[in-house]
Amino acid sequence: MTSDRIRIFDTTLRDGEQAPGCSMTLSEKLRVAKALSELNVDIIEAGFPAASPGDFESVKAIADENFGPVICGLARCNPDDIEKVHAAVKGADKHRIHVFVATSAIHREHKLKMAKEEIIKSAVGAIKMARELCDDVEFSPEDASRTELSYLAEVVSAAIEAGATTVNIPDTVGYTVPAEFDRLFRHLKEHVANIDDIVLSVHCHNDLGMAVANSLAAVHAGARQVECTINGIGERAGNCSLEEIVMALKTRSEFFELDTGIETTRLYPTSRLVSSITGMHVPRNKAIVGENAFAHEAGIHQHGMLQHASTYEIMLPEDVGISKSNLVLGKHSGRHAFRDRVVELGFDLDEFETNRAFQAFKKLADKKKDVYDGDIEAIVMDVDNSSPGPWALKSMQVNTRTDEDASATVILTSEDGNTVEQTATGDGPVAACFAALELAAGIGLTLKNFEVHSATIGEDAQGEVTVTVEYDNSSYRGQGTSVDIVEAGCRAYLDVINRVIRREQRGAPSNRSSTASQALI
Ligand code: KIV
Ligand code: ZN
Repeated sequence: MTSDRIRIFDTTLRDGEQAPGCSMTLSEKLRVAKALSELNVDIIEAGFPAASPGDFESVKAIADENFGPVICGLARCNPDDIEKVHAAVKGADKHRIHVFVATSAIHREHKLKMAKEEIIKSAVGAIKMARELCDDVEFSPEDASRTELSYLAEVVSAAIEAGATTVNIPDTVGYTVPAEFDRLFRHLKEHVANIDDIVLSVHCHNDLGMAVANSLAAVHAGARQVECTINGIGERAGNCSLEEIVMALKTRSEFFELDTGIETTRLYPTSRLVSSITGMHVPRNKAIVGENAFAHEAGIHQHGMLQHASTYEIMLPEDVGISKSNLVLGKHSGRHAFRDRVVELGFDLDEFETNRAFQAFKKLADKKKDVYDGDIEAIVMDVDNSSPGPWALKSMQVNTRTDEDASATVILTSEDGNTVEQTATGDGPVAACFAALELAAGIGLTLKNFEVHSATIGEDAQGEVTVTVEYDNSSYRGQGTSVDIVEAGCRAYLDVINRVIRREQRGAPSNRSSTASQALI
């Protein structure tokens, strides 16, 4: 099935979410799925339903929303996995079952301990079963790029005969190089008799930094579906980055002569959303969506740009959703101007959220002369992210001196009207605040990671803090923003405390001491 249309299969919620520190809550996954449908991806791989009841529920919730794209779930080649995927995705008008089994000698011998024929039998059985439940079935021979070419062709041919409608070729360990991958795809095109009956797909990992280049090589050799993730998040060094592959195909359309259906102006807002939700910051020099992707610093480049943008600019920032003007708002800007800017930046807030965001904007504009796009994005993300409690930060006070421990006092209010004050000391102001927050909320967490980023330029820029903690063998992430980075840290830590408590209240096992001392005032 060779056409001039490339299907974009987004696996941010499955392969991306599998990456350490990238796990998302159900409501976060729903927000990402909605953003992906606004981006107009063709297929959303929403998760791996057999992995856990939580995964099943989130795939089902996304499918039931019926956002528009095909909703897909991943399954190993066994009946239980396949039934679970079907039960989870069937609520979407368009749904897909994706089955996989490893085929390389390394995986056959060391992981599966299965012979070549057994693997084909297992794949064929799974595909047939999936086809009985669903017309749209994808098959992936895991570690295809390290599989013997003749055996890979045999597997692919058997998969098509069994009823697979898409066959995906993964470079699971990011090992291949473009010329070799081109050869692999051309080999399949030549040696698999029925290959034109299906959509040939590519799925690359970025271990050697070649996921996008390898995917483009596959496309050039005939692949018509690309599997990718927003910001390239994923296992280890990540997956093929969606924004890079889409803009490569668009910018070099005279070479590839292929189209995607992607609404490219949604690339930047979607990238920001995923980065804010996962806490995985986009490097400044990241292609397409990095802060410096369209910045020209060298004098000679600036001179050229002033003569004609095409001298040094191969894409327009507006085409990827980065607004041309970094319009500055201030404390005299009204609700109207604020709302227009929020919409221009690609966010979709309802009336209630707009009001909350506008209040936060007014507060910030009182502290900070100029409010930039980065500040507005941080406000909107905060409104979107704002954890519903049970605890809210009423105030914090910190004392710190060189050569002495810092001390911090925090006052928290709870949903049920309690006020708690606690004081603690620590090596520095942040450690003291975190200790005081733990005492106040009666919880003990293990801090694993603390990151601060500035939301915009300037001395009075807001700090965005992301913290990752471990509690009860699970990892949690929280975020907070403020012009005061210690306060941003406190807000991030309280966000994470609230997430842990809410999870416990929903029934997760608890280690939390019920006798934790709390001074009620
Ligand atoms: O990388 C890989 O091989 C995968 C498959 C399950 C498609 O993610
Ligand atoms: Zn993968």
